[in-house]
Amino acid sequence: MDTILRAEGIGRSFGDLRVLDGLDLTMDQGEFIGIVGRSGTGKSTLLGILGTHDLEYEGRLELGGRDVKAEDSAGLASLRRDFLGYVFQDFHLLPELTAVENAILPAVFSGRDAESARNSAIDVMSHLGVRMDGTPTAMLSRGERQRVAVARGLVNRPRLLLADEPSASLDDENENILFDMLDDLRKRQGFAMIAVVHSLSVLSRVDRVMELSEGRLHPVRKPGGAV
Ligand SMILES: Nc1ncnc2c1ncn2[C@@H]1O[C@H](COP(=O)(O)OP(=O)(O)OP(=O)(O)O)[C@@H](O)[C@H]1O
Ligand SMILES: [Mg+2]
Repeated sequence: MDTILRAEGIGRSFGDLRVLDGLDLTMDQGEFIGIVGRSGTGKSTLLGILGTHDLEYEGRLELGGRDVKAEDSAGLASLRRDFLGYVFQDFHLLPELTAVENAILPAVFSGRDAESARNSAIDVMSHLGVRMDGTPTAMLSRGERQRVAVARGLVNRPRLLLADEPSASLDDENENILFDMLDDLRKRQGFAMIAVVHSLSVLSRVDRVMELSEGRLHPVRKPGGAV
């Protein structure tokens, strides 16, 4: 199995606050890891580092065999464009743009032609059940905006999707629908996924559950399953 992510001895502090402290994680191609942990333990901080948004970490992070700290700005841009998809905890959508316009932004920024970007956005969003009329995303419900954010994370067909609580705004039924659709997309596209999750029904779907506490990841027994 190919290793797509290797993090060794990751540390991150904000002033005197030590958030991550010697964290290790290795991940295989196509794997789905669920991360749990109390509020404030550093889950979003960790995803920001894995997503190359935060480069101020200690330790070593390899994505697709490339040492993130050794990449120049063109190398980082190509990792973000070709390797990573990201779903932010607070969505980061542009409120005046429609769902399709928001979802194609990463494709447009990465220089793909607008027509092919539009087609892949529409493909992903029809799978995710996103409303695709001309409504600005500011007018959509939280749950609808959440699905637009997931669609945007997938539009460049990443090898690794990082999703910070991708179903936090959804009720149980819509959460299950979202993860059924993500399972289906993962079968078709084969991407790996790290998601910060809370609900037991989502945790039962993942390959591995890891709990973030005291700055490190600890394996957790899956609900009703082996570690
Ligand atoms: N840029 C920053 N500057 C200062 N402190 C920060 C910064 N980012 C995060 N922190 C602090 O680091 C700690 C971890 O924050 P983080 O957002 O990673 O937690 P979390 O596990 O994602 O929490 P939640 O479950 O509430 O989303 C918190 O105490 C937070 O206040
Ligand atoms: Mg968070």
